[in-house]
Amino acid sequence: MTDQTSNQMWGGRFAAGPDAIMEAINASIGFDKRMAAQDIAGSRAHAAMLAATGVITDNDAEAIREGLLTVLSEIEMGKFEYSTALEDIHMNVEARLKALIGEPAGRLHTGRSRNDQVATDFKLWVRDQFDAAEKGLLALIAALVDQAEAGADWVMPGFTHLQTAQPVTWGHHMMAYVEMFGRDLSRVRDARARMNESPLGSAALAGTSFPIDREMTASALGFDRPTANSLDAVSDRDFALEFLSTASICAMHLSRFAEELVIWSSAQFRFVTLSDRFSTGSSIMPQKKNPDAAELIRAKVGRIFGANTALMMVMKGLPLAYSKDMQEDKEQVFDAADNWMLALAAMEGMVKDMTGNRESLAAAAGSGFSTATDLADWMVRVLKVPFRDAHHVTGALVAMAESRGCDLPDLSLADMQGVHAGITADIFTVLGVENSVNSRMSYGGTAPAQVRAQVIRWKEILNG
Ligand code: ARG
Repeated sequence: MTDQTSNQMWGGRFAAGPDAIMEAINASIGFDKRMAAQDIAGSRAHAAMLAATGVITDNDAEAIREGLLTVLSEIEMGKFEYSTALEDIHMNVEARLKALIGEPAGRLHTGRSRNDQVATDFKLWVRDQFDAAEKGLLALIAALVDQAEAGADWVMPGFTHLQTAQPVTWGHHMMAYVEMFGRDLSRVRDARARMNESPLGSAALAGTSFPIDREMTASALGFDRPTANSLDAVSDRDFALEFLSTASICAMHLSRFAEELVIWSSAQFRFVTLSDRFSTGSSIMPQKKNPDAAELIRAKVGRIFGANTALMMVMKGLPLAYSKDMQEDKEQVFDAADNWMLALAAMEGMVKDMTGNRESLAAAAGSGFSTATDLADWMVRVLKVPFRDAHHVTGALVAMAESRGCDLPDLSLADMQGVHAGITADIFTVLGVENSVNSRMSYGGTAPAQVRAQVIRWKEILNG
């Protein structure tokens, strides 16, 4: 005789119920209830297939279908009572179904196991998040393209080592992030296409002796095809890892841009003004307008990459097939997904609202001897001086300007000829930042015409 307290779903061989601590460590309902809609969708597809293949009767399938719809509406209305004793969302839903429709509920789990069930539910959940990420990335890219178009010819300093390097355009800088988020987008699409195979019907690990139709459940759930190996299907979490690694790389990109916005919005830089809607104030310092959203986006990469590392460690060394370790996959993915979507939306909002300060950008663009390379290139082009020598002469001119506390264009022709006799007045045409950026016409270069060409290309991609 089974103990009253043993589990309804698998308590047949048990004489006693679990210790409270066992229940606490075992239960996942506290978090996997987020997959309720996916669980019910999977069960509906499975029940319909069991009826179509004659494994259960049409009457039973209909009772299951109606019962599941009732469970779903109870969950949606917040009337569903989750039970920790029932461990997870799968058993919570099934137990409620049993209470609602009685015996037919017990036939739902034919030819299926929680192992293929959880893999299916989780894939459906992650797939939705890939779709949400795609949307978020497209919106962010569109906002960046708009910024780039508006400021295609605004000059600003380009940096290496965070030291002034060469003038670039605001549009070019914005489009650099468009390329990064564009690669993130292609990773999202790639990973989504790869993961879109249905584990349902792999059962516990070996498949099933029932004459099920896995193509049917796969297509009902929007999968491209069923998975081809049942052992792999119930123990694969690559899709979650690809989601987390894709999220990690994207969060890293977001953090780089966030860092730039933090620097750019400082009183020392004044490159951008962030909108009030995406800034906060200080309770003690009235003058403050803080870039909190940017700082938080900068920080999100920590938890998202942490989730990626955590799940890699969970999966490492697990023998085939399912092990309970794998239940530790969901909280990491849920948290990473929530924060990734939030960071994407916050960045999109900030980018849409921010104002590039054209004058400050231009003033900074010409400082720090940013056109020194143009001077050296001019000597190579016009005077046929070897680049290494031109570099040396230019260095001497930079040192002269630095000692006088002026910029390169402020030196007189006589000063310059004192360092290299061949220099002519033509040199001044290349020392201006506008000329400098306009001359960078190589494909992918910073010239406004190149930036505009990339804006057009991306608009076509976005509209296509
Ligand atoms: N809650 C479990 C999980 O998230 C469901 C699968 C349970 N399977 C099992 N054989 N105990 O992984």
